[in-house]
Amino acid sequence: MAEVSLSDLPADKAERYAVVRREIAAVIAGEPSHVARYATATSLLVQAFAPRFFWTGFYLVDPDKPSELVVGPYQGTLGCLRIPFGKGVCGAAAAQRATQLVPDVHAFPGHIACDSRSNSEIVVPVFDAAGRLAAVLDVDSTELAAFDVVDQAGLEAICADLLTTP
Ligand code: SME
Repeated sequence: MAEVSLSDLPADKAERYAVVRREIAAVIAGEPSHVARYATATSLLVQAFAPRFFWTGFYLVDPDKPSELVVGPYQGTLGCLRIPFGKGVCGAAAAQRATQLVPDVHAFPGHIACDSRSNSEIVVPVFDAAGRLAAVLDVDSTELAAFDVVDQAGLEAICADLLTTP
């Protein structure tokens, strides 16, 4: 496994995402387990972006209930176990197959408050090599409007690699 050092991360956010993306790709290269890939991305994203990233993790499409998400690898306080497609921010991302950038979760219809300290959120879909939705990456912050288009671009690039790289 590649040796990873995140001690000298650039201050610029876009550059920081580029470094984290390369580090994740280096660690997961050759690893067939999707759970191992999700866990690696979670760990390296939290190392790079905490404490702004208050809750970071993946909800996986349940193979036994294909319109339901079930919690996967995450770091943070206790998360909800299951989210139906269409419900809350994660469910909206899954149903629409599109990123949800939510500056104030309290203004989002149907938002699921797993932890009342979360105030803003970004959820990015993860597709497998065949283009099927496999999971969503959910990042929550205690700050309002903690995420912007740079976060969106950075997280979408990381999620695009996750299940498609050898
Ligand atoms: N807030 C999310 C639920 C998941 S947790 O915050 C970890 C939502 O509305 O989808």
